[in-house]
Amino acid sequence: MKAASRTSVRSPRSKNTSSTSVPAQPELPGWIREPKHLLINGKWVEAASGESFATVDPASGSTLCHVAAGAKEDIDQAVAAARNAFESGPWRSMTASERGRLIWRLADLLEEHADEFATLESLDNGKPRAVARVADVPLAVDLFRYMAGWATKIHGSTFPISVPYAPGAQFFSYTQREPIGVVGQIIPWNFPLLMAAWKLGPALATGCTVVLKPAEQTPLSALRLGELIQQAGFPDGVVNIVTGFGETAGAALAGHPGIDKVAFTGSTEVGKLIVRAASHDLKKVSLELGGKSPNIVLADADLETAIPGAASAIFFNHGQCCCAGSRLYVHKKHFDQVVEGVASAARKIKVGPGLSPDTEMGPLVSEEQLNRVMGLLKSGQSEGAKPVAGGSRHGKAGYFVQPTVLVNTQPGMRVMEEEIFGPVVCAVPFTDEEEVIRSANGNIYGLAAAVWTSNLSKAHRIASALRAGTVWVNCYNIFDAALPFGGYKQSGWGREMGAEALELYTETKAVCVRL
Ligand code: NAI
Ligand code: MG
Repeated sequence: MKAASRTSVRSPRSKNTSSTSVPAQPELPGWIREPKHLLINGKWVEAASGESFATVDPASGSTLCHVAAGAKEDIDQAVAAARNAFESGPWRSMTASERGRLIWRLADLLEEHADEFATLESLDNGKPRAVARVADVPLAVDLFRYMAGWATKIHGSTFPISVPYAPGAQFFSYTQREPIGVVGQIIPWNFPLLMAAWKLGPALATGCTVVLKPAEQTPLSALRLGELIQQAGFPDGVVNIVTGFGETAGAALAGHPGIDKVAFTGSTEVGKLIVRAASHDLKKVSLELGGKSPNIVLADADLETAIPGAASAIFFNHGQCCCAGSRLYVHKKHFDQVVEGVASAARKIKVGPGLSPDTEMGPLVSEEQLNRVMGLLKSGQSEGAKPVAGGSRHGKAGYFVQPTVLVNTQPGMRVMEEEIFGPVVCAVPFTDEEEVIRSANGNIYGLAAAVWTSNLSKAHRIASALRAGTVWVNCYNIFDAALPFGGYKQSGWGREMGAEALELYTETKAVCVRL
């Protein structure tokens, strides 16, 4: 799709949009098939270049619709709009309570449209619609409500100060927390709506303005959220959404001199590029990156919960979770039983299109991701790893991979060291607890970890020894808006969610008054 000029168009829900090559799919809401535009300063506009790209249904590889391919010029305009909204718009003078109410209204609107968002996530990302309906969408709603509550609770402190070189003088000193300013937010495709919520929630609660760049694989739910943001009544320019590719739109945003901070979730490789792009003017950076999370089953674990827990630790969201439990360490006493239990669960998973009601695992998000995962599976098997379940592509159409359990893996193999981001777990036996902690920590990542045990002291001791931002004990993948999430080591900088997320979006100002 090419557009002759940069024109403001009506909302993507409107019917005035021009031709699209997408064949009619009557079962889909009409909105999905319409061409999508950028949200800049409260208006839906075409990309300055007029270019667009296709977003596809990964279950079939067919095009869902075309989306504006934003790039540097669009980012420039979006940043200018966000700067203006930060410095002079009604947002600036709004009370914290009014800001909180807007965020709460957005949560309500999202909840009202929960079914629609679950469908969008399923179509664009491939995940089962039923999972998106009970996990992704309610978690996003909850995150907005949690952050709405924070808007009125961001405060500084007072300090008794002594100043040794000013004897006799009296001071009143306090801190105040101020919004960091204009924020660029770049998000991935594995939880498209939820990642938008994790980023927007704290930025809006603290009074920042935003340019959001969704992943090119999954732009739809963020764009629909943009419509709800307008409907909720956020002033123009507070949230701008520029869809486009990482190398163009993403890179232009990360290095933009007009933003005060960049927040990124995605690969560790691109995280390093973001740091470089942000370094020339030392803008603030927060990063939520990859993982290779160890999941440890001790000899005294309750296997009835540990086995299904280990299976869902890796297979949830098709393994496309930064915190996926991808290294499964099992005490040798139970190794065969746990491996067989997880393998049997893997074999039973119903793989299919996300919109089919009985689907338990959908396709990977893209052909690129399919090729990446298949390449790693091939590399593992050529180095001696053996699949006891799965190991291959599932079917010929769409980007499906069989849920896979690998044994006979060794440290140093790519499948043991690299993030696979697919439904592939490496199971490894151990005998000694110190040894398993060393192995668990022996990786460049440190995002999450888990331990399964019935011994309370061991649970706390091992939780303390693991170098990871989250440790789950006798559970996995438990998230809550109140719990900070983020990585040690090369898994990132800073923590998302919880009160800690507010730190990422505020500056602290110390004020000292001589009395
Ligand atoms: P990616 O890191 O390239 O993409 C994430 C986001 O960054 C997207 O919005 C993308 O457009 C943007 N981006 C890409 N290059 C950029 C650049 N030079 N400057 C600014 N923004 C840029 O991830 P990709 O290629 O989709 O997946 C590769 C691997 O990354 C996966 O196999 C997985 O291992 C990891 N990953 C981790 C995620 C996490 O949640 N931590 C999420 C997605 C991917
Ligand atoms: Mg990439």
